[in-house]
Amino acid sequence: MSENKLRHVAIIMDGNGRWATVRSRPRVWGHIRGSTVVADIVEEADACGVQALTLYAFSTENWCRPQTEVKVLFALLKKFLLKERPRLIKNQVRFRMMGDLSHLPKDTQNLIQSLENETQNFKGLKLTFAFSYGGRDEIVSAVNNWVEKNPGQKLTVEALQNSLLVPDLGDVDLLIRTGGDQRISNFMLWQVAYAELFFTHTKWPDFTAEEFRSILDKTGKRERRFGSVCAEDNLKQTIQKAHQNKFQLFNQSEVH
Ligand code: FPP
Repeated sequence: MSENKLRHVAIIMDGNGRWATVRSRPRVWGHIRGSTVVADIVEEADACGVQALTLYAFSTENWCRPQTEVKVLFALLKKFLLKERPRLIKNQVRFRMMGDLSHLPKDTQNLIQSLENETQNFKGLKLTFAFSYGGRDEIVSAVNNWVEKNPGQKLTVEALQNSLLVPDLGDVDLLIRTGGDQRISNFMLWQVAYAELFFTHTKWPDFTAEEFRSILDKTGKRERRFGSVCAEDNLKQTIQKAHQNKFQLFNQSEVH
């Protein structure tokens, strides 16, 4: 594989329910099987040189699912936290969760807090689970928090970016969705502004480290222009240039 240029990869892990249904099993069977794939993908992302991996594990809309399914998802999260803790620590993975965790069982909240604390200074892969998370909610909270702290001031792109739930993750470079649908589903709406999108028909329980690596390889070769006419390595630089050009245009039109 060529050197990985995709710094931040996000995944919508979809297709668990259908994976189970076609096998005449209850939907939760798909979640159980799907949860076993997570650790492999975390390990592969790390091995491929990805710096941040963000996984959509439970959306704000998922609360509408049957109670039993929600409980199984909670249980799978707890199992992951207990089972994978030693490996995450050994690999210097910085673990975080983003979303409204207040409805999770207290013992799971404690496990999350403890792992976040333990890994907060680690410099390895940034692994973030989006749980009870919604992209619109994230943006609205970011704006409200900022306005409250800066009354009467004008919000900027940078200030909003810095007010997001996990600001240091930055923009998503590649968004993968498994399961065949081609939607963003309220996931990291701000951060995917310039992301490469990759949709695979593979349902999450069948997703493998090999497919992940091959997607990185394919999308890493795509030319990313960020609205410009030539490929640019540095998104920040390009956006700054665009802002400068805009201001120059304003000044010129004021002169004429
Ligand atoms: C979408 O499949 C998937 C989810 C709502 C949950 C994703 C959860 C896991 C992969 C397991 C949890 C693991 C951890 C470690 C938190 P779906 O049920 O919407 O599938 P469908 O589109 O086929 O119905």
